Amino acid sequence: MELKPGLSALVTGGASGIGKALVVALLQKGIFTTIIDLSEEKGKEVASLAEIEFLKFNAKSEFPPVVFIKCDVTDTNEIRAAFRKHVDTYGGLDICINCAGISSPIPFDKDRTDGCKSWRLTVNVNLIAVINCTQIAIQTMQEARKPGAIINIGSASGLLPNVC
Ligand SMILES: NC(=O)c1ccc[n+]([C@@H]2O[C@H](COP(=O)([O-])OP(=O)(O)OC[C@H]3O[C@@H](n4cnc5c(N)ncnc54)[C@H](O)[C@@H]3O)[C@@H](O)[C@H]2O)c1
Repeated sequence: MELKPGLSALVTGGASGIGKALVVALLQKGIFTTIIDLSEEKGKEVASLAEIEFLKFNAKSEFPPVVFIKCDVTDTNEIRAAFRKHVDTYGGLDICINCAGISSPIPFDKDRTDGCKSWRLTVNVNLIAVINCTQIAIQTMQEARKPGAIINIGSASGLLPNVC
């Protein structure tokens, strides 16, 4: 897909790290972007920074260049509402980037908990939520009858045996 001004993107985990860099790069190319993240403070900071970048490279627009939505990717209702808000704001969805991710605070082999704050949560954020967002993104793009791109950011830790 050619990245053209006027397209729209939704980035989960866009308040920090790789997601933040992607949001800024998209706005520099004139692509309207919704940031989804748990961190409201960082998300709003990135939205302000990205909006400045948008205005450096692109003319003022009738749509808000960037929208931040505080949302937990493991909550299907919140996620569906966020995609809906994106479509209501921009009239469709061209690019979905699933970048929200965590690592477990406890090494798997040392974990004596039920995993709800460690390995189970990590699977929910890094795997289940990515599948869920991918499905919602496909359905959103199909409803608009316009092809799009979905990018899921993973880690080598998901491929290699690793107990850390
Ligand atoms: N940093 C690396 O070297 C590296 C290398 C390879 C892959 N990755 C992968 O890239 C992705 C992003 O990594 P990063 O280093 O930018 O991480 P990061 O911690 O800087 O950013 C992740 C973002 O996801 C958000 N997030 C976490 N849980 C969430 C939830 N339940 N709902 C909504 N938002 C949530 C966090 O608030 C944070 O803003 C991860 O999937 C990671 O595994 C990172």
